[in-house]
Amino acid sequence: MVILGFESSCDETGVAVVCTDRGVLAHALHTQAAMHQAYGGVVPELASRDHIRRIVVLTRQALVDANLKLADVDALAYTAGPGLAGALLVGAGTAQALAWSLGKPAIPIHHLEGHLLSPRLADPRPAFPFVALLVSGGHTQLMRVSGVGDYKLLGETLDDAAGEAFDKTAKLLGLGYPGGPELAALAQSGDAARFDLPRPLLHRPGFDFSFSGLKTAVLNQLQKACKAVGVDAADASVLDTQTRADLAAAAQAAIVDILIAKSVATLDQTGLRRLVVAGGVGANRLLRQRLLDACTKRGVEVFFPPIELCTDNGAMIAYAAAERINAGLCDLSHDQSHAFTVR
Ligand code: KG4
Ligand code: ZN
Repeated sequence: MVILGFESSCDETGVAVVCTDRGVLAHALHTQAAMHQAYGGVVPELASRDHIRRIVVLTRQALVDANLKLADVDALAYTAGPGLAGALLVGAGTAQALAWSLGKPAIPIHHLEGHLLSPRLADPRPAFPFVALLVSGGHTQLMRVSGVGDYKLLGETLDDAAGEAFDKTAKLLGLGYPGGPELAALAQSGDAARFDLPRPLLHRPGFDFSFSGLKTAVLNQLQKACKAVGVDAADASVLDTQTRADLAAAAQAAIVDILIAKSVATLDQTGLRRLVVAGGVGANRLLRQRLLDACTKRGVEVFFPPIELCTDNGAMIAYAAAERINAGLCDLSHDQSHAFTVR
């Protein structure tokens, strides 16, 4: 079956064509990051309007790239949530309208299921069961994944998500939005050992995370460093590049330490031998390297999605629908009575 999938939960418009047998045939993506940069975060109304502007253009592009026509599509898939309500409605409305006009089913997909299954788009493909570390801008979770649709939450963040910790720390350091990649780039020339930052919940039992104390600790260190140069405010622009890089490296090291410790504890407790990493923070190179080292030491296999599919995209949504269809979990009638399912 050929599935046309839409992602529009936040600030990326993604459209992809996935075949249940042959995988991703095409995916088209537009990121709104530059548009939201001036505001230091996503402005929901601007996001919704931009999805409307882009979604048809991207749909055409994905179909051309896949060398297919709309009539070749067997099912539509869309992100039903979680996400920004107005933004979600653009993808849901587009998918439902096309489904209605083509007489094809529209399959609602949970955004996190899209992230969770996306590492199975890469070669080698992780088999079930596995532990999933889901690290995005809105979520940080550890799950036991026993099969498609069979997910057990083992731990999650009690406050900020890992991506949020990257973004908020980056903002404190005067970096742009989204902060994760910018902070990681600055950290490359930094010395993580110069600043001692806390690792909340690191040595506590359980698989939950906490990142909000880390952000406060970065703010305190920033204030101290500013005072040292005679400025009585937390204004990163008065600091030399090396100090900012050292703070960035220390913050990144603390976030990565926490993610590694809790992932390893989950692997040890469940006895599972496969770890799958998904979500935007999965693009972080230090996290990838450190996880690879920790898992190799334990004889655990670790899997990541292709780097360009770590952040939000349409391929993961269409692919999750393909997995659900292959697992017999989809209602493929084109009864549209559940139109506009938005979670
Ligand atoms: O999964 P995603 O695209 O969107 C959500 O569903 O939230 O994740 C976005 C998050 C942002 O917080 C962004 O700063 C973070 O992923 N991110 C990174 C990197 N690339 C994206 N964080 C650290 N290092 C990166 N290289
Ligand atoms: Zn996401």
